[in-house]
Amino acid sequence: MSATTETIGAPRTARGARRRLGVGVIGFGWLGQAHSRSLLRIPTLFAEREFNAELVICGDTLPERRDDAVGSYGFARSTADWRAVIDDPDVEVVFVAAPNMLHVELVEAAAAAGKHVFCEKPVGGTPAQTVRAEKAARTAGVISGVGYNYRWAPLVQYARMLIADGTLGEITNYRGRFFSMYGSDPLGVLSWRFLVDQAGYGVTTDLMSHSVDLAHMLLGPITRVTGTTETFIRERPVPAGGGTHYGRGTPDDPKGAVTNEDYAGMLCEFAGGARGTFEASRSMVGPESQMAFEVYGTKGALSWNLEKLNELQVYLVEDAPHTGYRTVFGGDRFPYHGHFVPGSANGIGFEDLVVIEDFEFCRSVATGREHMPGFGDAVEWVSVQDALLRSARSGRWEDVVSLRED
Ligand SMILES: NC(=O)c1ccc[n+]([C@@H]2O[C@H](COP(=O)([O-])OP(=O)(O)OC[C@H]3O[C@@H](n4cnc5c(N)ncnc54)[C@H](O)[C@@H]3O)[C@@H](O)[C@H]2O)c1
Repeated sequence: MSATTETIGAPRTARGARRRLGVGVIGFGWLGQAHSRSLLRIPTLFAEREFNAELVICGDTLPERRDDAVGSYGFARSTADWRAVIDDPDVEVVFVAAPNMLHVELVEAAAAAGKHVFCEKPVGGTPAQTVRAEKAARTAGVISGVGYNYRWAPLVQYARMLIADGTLGEITNYRGRFFSMYGSDPLGVLSWRFLVDQAGYGVTTDLMSHSVDLAHMLLGPITRVTGTTETFIRERPVPAGGGTHYGRGTPDDPKGAVTNEDYAGMLCEFAGGARGTFEASRSMVGPESQMAFEVYGTKGALSWNLEKLNELQVYLVEDAPHTGYRTVFGGDRFPYHGHFVPGSANGIGFEDLVVIEDFEFCRSVATGREHMPGFGDAVEWVSVQDALLRSARSGRWEDVVSLRED
């Protein structure tokens, strides 16, 4: 699996010329930089790629980030005006990594200009915005991708195989959670993530979207839900500059109101018959980044947790009498892993998942095929989110109704 069969940097593959893909990135914070670094790393890791991505133009409102994009990452140019990224004739693919409530406007403009578009999750801050973005890309006939990066973890891919080939038997129940501590400190600053007008909804949009997307990939659609949400830390220090969700203020700073939810919990039914529970929190103390799931079937069970991304816990009834969860270490026998490190138990990391996702998205564009996860998958999630939010208001079970607009 490793990229050893071809001279690194060779201009051609066995399948023919590599297609040049001019890339524009909008929003050069954590994820905009992660995607840019990932695109730079792809040639050194994936010899079989059908494309060569070129960093053309970076858009960000902060001058120091624009300088970094050109000076350190090698973008040809930068701009404070995101429209210049979309209008740039050398740009064929736009990566959107700006705050959520800007997504839909950027996606609609990119699609209207005929540019393929990768948008960070959740694609908009509200279900209605995600639906608009999906329709815009579909109507324009451009390829869309969404940043559900945990799908690409090698051991998550392997878990999918174990479920699909029946190794676990009939799946009876599923537990998904995304517990993060990024908002657990009351002095954590009031960055855009805590504001409904910039982020849209809170943890349902930011964290539970990842959890449910993984469950969709592993088990299929959800038909009905009941749930609850809460905001536990209701005000935070206002940051002096932009401020990220990892920034910290002081007790003397002026405070502003948090306007979206810190916590969400949901009980649900899958179309395949399994039952599931999901929780997401950004303000609890203890789990630092538990993007995790557990799957229970009639012949076995498995669990995975981002905090130990190179380990999969597997239980198989057929191992009797030597039953018990066994730790399967990541290694080059699992999808993608060998592109990064050879052997077994030599670990990969968070940003390697972004490299895999960008590799797969760019090859979808280069070969002209529909990409998964795309905006259609984002609409699948917001259809569940919409039912959850209805349930949190009504206090009752609510059916999941597809929000996709034809
Ligand atoms: N897939 C993941 O694991 C993951 C992780 C973190 C963030 N995200 C997503 O990535 C997106 C960005 O999050 P982040 O953590 O990188 O945020 P961030 O705050 O670190 O970066 C956002 C950047 O956008 C810039 N920006 C703001 N307004 C702009 C405008 N009008 N035009 C151009 N640039 C503008 C900011 O200056 C900043 O540099 C969000 O949608 C978030 O949900 C995904």
